[in-house]
Amino acid sequence: MHILRKASHVTPEDLHTLYAYPGDGTWVRANMIASIDGAAGLQGRSGDLAADGDRLVYRVLRDLSDVVVVGAHTALTEGYGQPDGPAFAVVSRYLDIPPDYAPIADPRTVVLTCSAAPTSRREALAAAGAQLVDCGTDTVEPAAIAAECERRGWPHILLEGGPRLLGSFVAADALDDLCLTTSPILLGGTASRPLDHDDELARGMVVAHLLTDEDGYLFARWVRATPTFG
Ligand SMILES: NC(=O)c1ccc[n+]([C@@H]2O[C@H](COP(=O)([O-])OP(=O)(O)OC[C@H]3O[C@@H](n4cnc5c(N)ncnc54)[C@H](OP(=O)(O)O)[C@@H]3O)[C@@H](O)[C@H]2O)c1
Repeated sequence: MHILRKASHVTPEDLHTLYAYPGDGTWVRANMIASIDGAAGLQGRSGDLAADGDRLVYRVLRDLSDVVVVGAHTALTEGYGQPDGPAFAVVSRYLDIPPDYAPIADPRTVVLTCSAAPTSRREALAAAGAQLVDCGTDTVEPAAIAAECERRGWPHILLEGGPRLLGSFVAADALDDLCLTTSPILLGGTASRPLDHDDELARGMVVAHLLTDEDGYLFARWVRATPTFG
């Protein structure tokens, strides 16, 4: 047993050390937030669960990453713009993304899709300036996403959701690290959990650290346990 360290006693430099990626190799980290009872959003948006401490950790994780990867649903629902600093990758099988969604025309954004994506949507997005890369045939494969990011010189990958995209990475054994903020609220309702997948996955994780702050938030960093079980 260990005593929690108050985040107020942890400097921003400490946070950079605590959340540092381990070396130069490819490493897939996810950053998610949930209520005490495990709801991944408040009225459909995760940002409304956050407060200052979470926003600080979020910024540190972005500073440390080379690329932010999100599912198309999350990018559109949460109104994602081009991140300051890291590159941006939007994952979509069906490419139901409006061509006027501003980040797709940015040279530091890539749309990761698969060869089965509808041709007309592919053409519309390409005409709007999007760079599209196939990472699979019938579905977008997490291992292929990681390989494409590595090929582009973005080994330090930060998944910001949503729950279905995280589920596909865990199912593919392609997640190394989960930074999970627990917001001090009981929500109820029907929101998804931070990981959404039809199958029981049962992958063991080991806590690397657990912080708290004056607002009562918990900031856990979980890393992949080896061997996995299930
Ligand atoms: N609590 C949190 O930390 C957190 C974080 C992010 C989002 N959210 C919330 O989660 C909700 C969205 O949930 P969601 O699960 O639908 O988000 P999501 O993971 O963004 O949705 C899946 C999206 O990813 C695309 N996708 C492409 N390849 C995929 C693959 N291999 N596996 C899974 N998805 C793939 C799908 O696009 P196609 O349909 O084109 O295939 C779909 O748009 C929003 O309300 C958002 O606010 C919560």
